[in-house]
Amino acid sequence: MTARQQPKNLWIGRWGFVLAATGSAVGLGNIWKFPYMTGEYGGGAFVLVYLACILCIGIPAMMTEIAFGRRGRGSPIDAVKRVAQESGRGKIWSGFGWMSMLAGFMILSFYVVVAGWSLAYLWKALSGGLQGGSVDDMAAIFGANNANPLSLGAWSTLVTVVTMCIVGKGVQEGIERNMRWMMPGMVLLLLVMIVYAMFSGGFGEAVTFLFSFEVGKLSSAGLLAAMGHAFFTLSLSAGAIMAYGAYLPDNKSIARTTFTVAICDTLIALMAGLAIFPAIFANGMDPASGPGLIFMSLPLAFQQMPMGSVLQVIFFVMLSVAALTSAVSMIEATVAWLTERKGMSRKAAAWSSGIVLWLLSTLAMLSFNLGADWTLAGKNFFDWLDYLTSRWMMPLGGLGLCLMAGFLLRDEIFRDELRLARWQHALWLLMVRYVSPLGIVLIFIDALGVMSIDIGSQWPWFLAALVVITVLGEMLSPRVKQQFTG
Ligand code: PHE
Repeated sequence: MTARQQPKNLWIGRWGFVLAATGSAVGLGNIWKFPYMTGEYGGGAFVLVYLACILCIGIPAMMTEIAFGRRGRGSPIDAVKRVAQESGRGKIWSGFGWMSMLAGFMILSFYVVVAGWSLAYLWKALSGGLQGGSVDDMAAIFGANNANPLSLGAWSTLVTVVTMCIVGKGVQEGIERNMRWMMPGMVLLLLVMIVYAMFSGGFGEAVTFLFSFEVGKLSSAGLLAAMGHAFFTLSLSAGAIMAYGAYLPDNKSIARTTFTVAICDTLIALMAGLAIFPAIFANGMDPASGPGLIFMSLPLAFQQMPMGSVLQVIFFVMLSVAALTSAVSMIEATVAWLTERKGMSRKAAAWSSGIVLWLLSTLAMLSFNLGADWTLAGKNFFDWLDYLTSRWMMPLGGLGLCLMAGFLLRDEIFRDELRLARWQHALWLLMVRYVSPLGIVLIFIDALGVMSIDIGSQWPWFLAALVVITVLGEMLSPRVKQQFTG
């Protein structure tokens, strides 16, 4: 084994990594996207495939990312490069590190806009600006909120500044320290909302909606969306988890921490559903109202409930905190890279990346007002950032890292890092070599639109393809024997 890099920063607390990684994973994806996707793709059926995707694709990919980070002990670019070099491979492979870092940066530039909505809504909730009798009134409030570039820009700038302050303070003093109160605080607020929902009607319907599984409702679009969302919600292929993994002490188990983070993330997404849908059902609204669910339907629903105005404040505080803990993780890779490679201080690195980020996010913000018709192929700048990152860069990064770990790099590295029992290691390999890649290829086929995928009727073919590819792959792979004979 070659000498490992000496870590400069490590999480100090017992729960340091878990808190930070869960903070990264739990965000707008859980509280904004997951509920509306569940609403759109038919409730329980979507929840079930989503859980399967987390288990088969998300968890193995997260273990892989943390292993890369801890082995390489550096920003994703350097971590991937070092691990590749340790296996006698060229620098070129660090391209996947570059792509992850870039994806994190690009996601953050539109994420701060949505996080800005959340702060703006918190302010409106506090100052009584969320009044209206119908969904149309709420849509008008949402429209007015976006129409003014100055106020919209001010809110996203505020998010950027707070993020950079936290990151600039350093891994332990900034990130770890703040996560210690932000995460428990967020969960507490979510629990308050659920307890309220239990006693205020609509709870039973929400539970049925989320957990009753009807095979007929399972759509291919839902399955593909669930796969893509598994990456997004676990913060994979965006530099975040790998950058945090670089600070994971050697004695911690990667498998155990990964499961903890993935379980917390999933539980919080489901809890968000249990906090939001009861209000929607109690007021006879449509759960499938899309991205406007929490900004239009939910405020309207709250208005009609006792203590709704208090609840609304609680909800938007929680949402803002969740967004912030994720935002911090998206820029960590860039800041780590600037400090390690360009010799900058944490503060200088945070503020200089903050400025570039601010420029990019301003363009994203303008997509809602002045720049609404700056479109290319029907998508504005905001939509492009979202589309490129979640449909292409994250899956491509995931595919690259999984295949590298599965086929290209020395297996001892991963045995060393993951420290799994033999059968568990074989299972992990099966996932990163075949199951995740096939899933990701389906996402690409769908994004390219070259073939219409109907998993409902074609699933036996997909299963057969998976088996054939696995058997062929294992027969051709020189490592097979060594795998099972030790
Ligand atoms: N996982 C975060 C969420 O669910 C988003 C995120 C993506 C965070 C990529 C970091 C990196 O909102």
